[in-house]
Amino acid sequence: EKDGHDWFMRKEIFEQPRAVADSLIGRRGVGGLLQLDEMRLADEEIRDLDKIIIIACGTSFYAGMVAKYAIEHWTRTPVEVELASEFRYRDPIVDHTTLVVAISQSGETADTLQAIRHAKSQRAKVLAICNTNGSSIPRESDAVIYTHAGPEIGVASTKGFLTQLVACYLLALYVAQVKGTRYGDEINEIMGQLEAMPGHVETVLEQAESVYELARAHVDARSVLFLGRHAGYPVALEGALKLKELAYLHAEGFAAGELKHGPIALVEDGLPVLCVVPPRGRDQLHGKMLSGIQEVRARGARTICLAEEGDEKIVPYADHLIRLPEVPVLLQPLVAIVPLQLFACELASALGHDVDQPRNLAKSVTVE
Ligand code: F6R
Repeated sequence: EKDGHDWFMRKEIFEQPRAVADSLIGRRGVGGLLQLDEMRLADEEIRDLDKIIIIACGTSFYAGMVAKYAIEHWTRTPVEVELASEFRYRDPIVDHTTLVVAISQSGETADTLQAIRHAKSQRAKVLAICNTNGSSIPRESDAVIYTHAGPEIGVASTKGFLTQLVACYLLALYVAQVKGTRYGDEINEIMGQLEAMPGHVETVLEQAESVYELARAHVDARSVLFLGRHAGYPVALEGALKLKELAYLHAEGFAAGELKHGPIALVEDGLPVLCVVPPRGRDQLHGKMLSGIQEVRARGARTICLAEEGDEKIVPYADHLIRLPEVPVLLQPLVAIVPLQLFACELASALGHDVDQPRNLAKSVTVE
């Protein structure tokens, strides 16, 4: 049932091209217009939205962070992203012009479920992004976008995350279409880029062996840092989470611009730092990231850089280089997270841990 893989997680990482493709099927309707079948919100309701609040936990929360960049950029609608466990207790400002988006792979996470109940009591509209048909969260929501990852068995979320990203992009484009903040041509172009992503994920997976080798070289690491900017920042956080939960290793993700505000003090000789480098097309972002990498390297860090094919400027600053396909910055998380998943899976495996059942963790967290 693991299709020749040693772990469900590894199998699920390799299923990602298919999972992404499946989550995109049937989204383009007549005249190329984007359609979300299960979306039970009227155009009117979408047009009247003043803000969107995304609530989720763990990996799903990081998908929500990526979604904020995409939704605000494409729709000009303000987005807040909040941990479900914090949302309800701070008396959030929510009313009928607020769309609350709950992201949950399992659909049973207690914190997220309680948060949507609170949102509904304040008359907000609730949309679920969920991988599990008929689970509690979509059942209690006004609308739902199902992801089509298929069952995720490994406790650490992988294909669940990629398909959540896809659903978030689709939601963003749909809102842009209804609100008219983007033209049809532009939406079509982005849909085309999304439809190319399964192939790009496949390309990244072809480098698995070299990522595994790199991971095995880190069995003695005691701490690992992850840096990113823009949509690469949540990728850094998610990469660090994977390493914590699977390898039981201290790992932390930072926004690269924050380094000088504290975290750089952690850098010492030999510290591995994984860096998600933005595409060169985003000139300023790219340049700023490079200077951050230079700074940690000057202090003895060993830099492992994820950078797009053809990026030559990164070469002098990378102790190890993992190549990513050339994709727009907003879509880059779909490819950039893959080597980090492979890295965590292999390192945990090399350390002798149970990758599918990490200690102290459960697949769905049904207590608050
Ligand atoms: C990490 C992981 C968890 C879940 C979190 C939310 O790999 O799997 O952090 O993402 O418990 O779960 P769902 O998405 O089911 O609400």
